[in-house]
Amino acid sequence: MTGYAICGSFCTHSASLAALTLLCEERDVIPIISYNAATTDTRFGTAKELLSRVESICSRRAVTTIVDAEPLGPKSPMDALIIAPCTGNTLAKLANGITDTPVTMAAKAHLRCSRPLVIALASNDALSANLKNIAIMAEKKNVYFVPMKQDDIENKPYSLVADFHLIEKTLAMAEEGRQIRPLFI
Ligand SMILES: Cc1cc2nc3c(=O)[nH]c(=O)nc-3n(C[C@H](O)[C@H](O)[C@H](O)COP(=O)(O)O)c2cc1C
Repeated sequence: MTGYAICGSFCTHSASLAALTLLCEERDVIPIISYNAATTDTRFGTAKELLSRVESICSRRAVTTIVDAEPLGPKSPMDALIIAPCTGNTLAKLANGITDTPVTMAAKAHLRCSRPLVIALASNDALSANLKNIAIMAEKKNVYFVPMKQDDIENKPYSLVADFHLIEKTLAMAEEGRQIRPLFI
């Protein structure tokens, strides 16, 4: 079982669901959704739509509470956990040991098993407030980043967005203990 966690970078949800669909052709995937992603309606879609699409793609109920995420460690181990998209908010929490959402709970439980955690970051402050948190996470054992790029240097000079097409390749290499490179594309 592979974990696939979704955070509140709403503009990247369609790219994430496309990657999730491909992943589900190869693997049994358990979806995990952050409180914000699971409850916020935006111009990119409603929370209800997101939940129902994710559950239909995975043919499985999504984990949407800390209580349901907590066993996803030594008790019910996942072979890998992908966070796609990972917001700046969730990255900062992971880097600083804060565990107050289903996604951060799943990541904390999962890292106890010494298996890969793959992060597909999408954040407007990746090159400002969150730059140090990328460095903190990149240095951690068993943590891998999906290659990312500056998506709009004119209007969002501090933004980085992962290339969601590279999730499967990043995961395959992570499972061999290798970080796919180049990290910045
Ligand atoms: C329409 C909309 C789009 C957003 N896009 C992003 C984004 O791309 N990246 C990001 O880091 N935060 C984004 N946010 C802010 C996050 O949703 C917010 O930080 C939230 O607390 C994230 O919670 P989570 O990390 O638990 O999912 C967006 C918010 C809204 C309302």
